[in-house]
Amino acid sequence: MKIAKVCKEWDLNFNIELKSEEDTSLHSRSYIHYAAQHTELVACKSWATKWLLEDIVDSTKEYNVREYMAGIGVQTCIIQNLFKVKKHIVSELDEGCVEHLSNTNFDPKPEVRFENAQESLMEDDSSNLKFLDLPNSSILQIEKKWKDGFYKLFDSNPELVVWTDTSVTYPMSLHGEKYSKLLSSPSINNKEEYVDSYSKWLYNKFGYSIGRAAFRARNAVYFAAIPGDHKTESKSFPVKETEDGFYFIGEERKTLDSFF
Ligand SMILES: C[S@@+](CC[C@H](N)C(=O)[O-])C[C@H]1O[C@@H](n2cnc3c(N)ncnc32)[C@H](O)[C@@H]1O
Repeated sequence: MKIAKVCKEWDLNFNIELKSEEDTSLHSRSYIHYAAQHTELVACKSWATKWLLEDIVDSTKEYNVREYMAGIGVQTCIIQNLFKVKKHIVSELDEGCVEHLSNTNFDPKPEVRFENAQESLMEDDSSNLKFLDLPNSSILQIEKKWKDGFYKLFDSNPELVVWTDTSVTYPMSLHGEKYSKLLSSPSINNKEEYVDSYSKWLYNKFGYSIGRAAFRARNAVYFAAIPGDHKTESKSFPVKETEDGFYFIGEERKTLDSFF
């Protein structure tokens, strides 16, 4: 077993036997292997997520939590350490991740489901805190592929909805015009205008706004939406300043690659 330290504070156990996927096509490799190749992004994600969630809701209250794309459980670990979790349901489409999530040291032990989020998002769910850690998406995918499921997240009036957006991977000049049409904004020329327009659109549609936006390196932003009209607090997490966000105890200089 290997133990990872998340945000220099919390342990995440890895009991799974990882096999090389050298012979598997890049497209079919599991998230565990993506994470193995981009440990610096997992570390950066850890600090960004901690900042995103800390005290965003009343941390003295108990919550039911639903995560639709739980991957290797970094977000699960942070959620369980920041909030009092009563019931936690996590799901994944990757068998290796499901095995890992079922056999690690979460407390309380989550209900782990092997499920396609496209389908499970359509089921009624009354959890207080909801998480959709999409692999890649912008408002374009939210308004197309994920539209029905994303809209349904808000049906039960959760206290918090968190999701991942990767629009910032590309210069805003590439899709800014398409984004502005979807978000009913006169123009979107930079990431700040994107977040601001997204938050206003969200408020007009669901009565929620983006309370916090945590930029992970140059390729993702995590949104935390809360009920009401709020001014978004944003923070950037560069890779160079976040390398200690995720490492294996005793192997601080090594990365997840050392598994293989
Ligand atoms: C960004 S990663 C999640 C990382 C994870 N939250 C963590 O903290 O370790 C995205 C995950 O979504 C999963 N995924 C992609 N499409 C899915 C779908 N349709 N249903 C469920 N999971 C899906 C992938 O297997 C991948 O593990």
